[in-house]
Order: sequence, then structure tokens, then C-alpha cells
Amino acid sequence: MILIGVPVQYSPAILEKYRARVEDYLYVVSSVKNTEIAEAIKYHFGWLDQEGNAVSSMQGKGIRSSLCMFACESVGGVLDNALQGAAAVELVHNFSLIHDDIQDEDEERRHRPTVWSIWGVSKALQVGNYIRILSDLTVKNSVSQILDNNLTLRCTETLSEAYLETVEGQYLDLEYEGKLDITTKEYLGMINRKTGALISCALKLGALLGSADQDTVKEMSAFGRILGLVFQIRDDYLGIWGLQENTGKNVANDVRRRKNSLPIIHALQNGTPAAVTEISKTYRQDCIDEHDIERILSILNDVGTTGYMDKLANSYASSAVSLLETIKIDKVYRIELQELIAFLLKRES
Ligand code: IPE
Ligand code: IPE
Ligand code: MG
Ligand code: MG
Repeated sequence: MILIGVPVQYSPAILEKYRARVEDYLYVVSSVKNTEIAEAIKYHFGWLDQEGNAVSSMQGKGIRSSLCMFACESVGGVLDNALQGAAAVELVHNFSLIHDDIQDEDEERRHRPTVWSIWGVSKALQVGNYIRILSDLTVKNSVSQILDNNLTLRCTETLSEAYLETVEGQYLDLEYEGKLDITTKEYLGMINRKTGALISCALKLGALLGSADQDTVKEMSAFGRILGLVFQIRDDYLGIWGLQENTGKNVANDVRRRKNSLPIIHALQNGTPAAVTEISKTYRQDCIDEHDIERILSILNDVGTTGYMDKLANSYASSAVSLLETIKIDKVYRIELQELIAFLLKRES
């Protein structure tokens, strides 16, 4: 396909060029109140250690904030006008991660102990809630200084609708755990909400803040939906085959947690009756040991699950590239998004 030849094992320009600006702004937003909760937030973002000392730990990839900045710039907007939107989507994303780590019982994220594993579940819930509210305030207070009332309202609605969907998707993800009859359609609907909604919102907000025309806002938003699918399919791949040194999580973590991620759904639909029985039996156990994991990995291998995932992700990537052709932005911006798609297909972390 079109993306062949694009180098993939690097962080593409789109994820680097806005990073410092967004990080500085996020730091300011996170410091609005110098409370104890702000320390946990700064810990989560990698700026403090758990004792409150300044450090520079691994950051997230910043996909959503970068897309917001990018959308604004590519439609000819003033880049600074997108900063609040970029910070807001990144805050919502991190709210969802702090809660997700509680729900998934993950003790590590970005190679560090998770907020709940340090401060406990109850406080981690509050930290997550707090940064979600910070994101609301960021958009409401700051965007109103740039845009008229109507557009400010659209931005706040866009953000709220996106995290409403994110929470719905996350709920479904949890609901599907342990259910072995989830269809691919149901799975795609779930990831469209838990992941696609916010990625789409990032692009839409950026386009709105860049004063793009209505068609462009819609196209950016639709493009984000497909990008979200490409992103999450790879995330499900990494949840099983990703290496600890890259992902900061144990290999096969999703199997250990009995997640009903795409590889398992595929194997249940395409495995031999014996394989399906074995997965079902293993997933009904209270605890999965290393031998069980090896058996499941071997079944996934026999069923050709990684090939299927590659194919599915590539087909969404092709649709994203086609959609991209219709968006009215300069070629140089289109190439940046193509690079991002290529990166999302092969990322290792
Ligand atoms: C992880 O997202 C959570 C999902 C929606 C699957 P990212 O991989 O974008 O997380 P960071 O911010 O880069 O760590
Ligand atoms: C996280 O999904 C999605 C949201 C937080 C909305 P995952 O549980 O698959 O993400 P990781 O792999 O822990 O980052
Ligand atoms: Mg998780
Ligand atoms: Mg999860």
C-alpha cells in the first residue's frame, strides 16, 4: 500500500514538534493549585517522583495533543490557539489511563508504578476525576478568550461528548471481560468509543480552534475515528506480544488479565473446537499461570492471529489514507499524517 517505504521505528515529526509547548502548558495547568493532589498529577505526568522531587521520567507519546495542535496548524489556524484544546485532550486521556490502570489492576505504566499502586485506589480515583475536571476548566476558561460564545460552547460540548463515549467504551471493555461470545463488530464498536472518540475529538477541536470550515471539521473528525481503530488494534497486539522493555508492561499482560482483546476474539472465532475449548476453560480459571499463557500464545500462533491483526489494521490504515486525500490541507501536512499512520501500524510502545 501507499505507506510502504515510510520508516516506522521512530517517533514521527508530528509527535515531536509540539511536544515541548504542550508539556509546558500542561505543567502550568497542573500547577493551578499547589495541593497534594497536584503532586500525584505531576508524578503521573513524569515530572515528579513519588516523594515529590523533580525528575524527568518517560512521557506519554502525546498522540492526542499533537493531533489537536496539528489540526489547527494544518487548517491555517494560529497554533497558540490550540494549546488549551491540546492540553484538555491530553488531560482527559490521562484521566482515562489513571482509572484504566485501577480497572486493569496494572501496577506499571510508562515504566513506573501506577498512581493507584502508590496512593491507593480511592485516591487514584480522585486524581483521575480531578484532571478530568481540569480539562473542562481549561477549555471553558481559555477557549472563551479566543473564540466567540457559540464556538466555545461547541468546543466544550465536543470534549464532553468525547469523554462520555470514552467512559461508555471503557465500560463495555470491562463488561466484555470473561464473555467469550463477543463478535468482532461488538469489539470494533467498543474500541471506537474507548479510543476512537478522543482521538477524533483531538482533531476536531484543533480544527475548530483553527477556524476551519464545517466540512474540514467533519472530515478531520471522521479521519480520527479510523485512526483510533488502527491505534487500538496495535495496542491489543502490544498487550500480548509487546516487549516489557518497550511497553513497560509484562509480556502477555492482556492474557494474564483475561482480557477479551482482538487476538482472543479472533482465536475464538477461528480456532479448532479443541483450541476454543482450551481458551474458554483457561479464561474461566481464577488464575492464569505461565504454562496457560504459553498454551494460549501457541494457539494464537496456530490460528494466525498476528497476520489477521496486521491485515485488519492495514485495511483501516488504507481507508484512513484515502480519507486523508479528501481533506483540504497542504501536501506537507498530509505526509505527516501518513507517517503517523505508518508509525501506529508498527509502534512497539
Ligand atoms: C494508551 O494510549 C491507552 C489507550 C487508549 C489504548 P497511549 O499509548 O496513547 O498512551 P501514552 O499517553 O502514549 O502513554
Ligand atoms: C485503555 O485501554 C483505554 C482507555 C483508557 C480509555 P487499554 O487498557 O487497552 O490500554 P493500555 O494498554 O492499558 O494502555
Ligand atoms: Mg489498560
Ligand atoms: Mg483497559
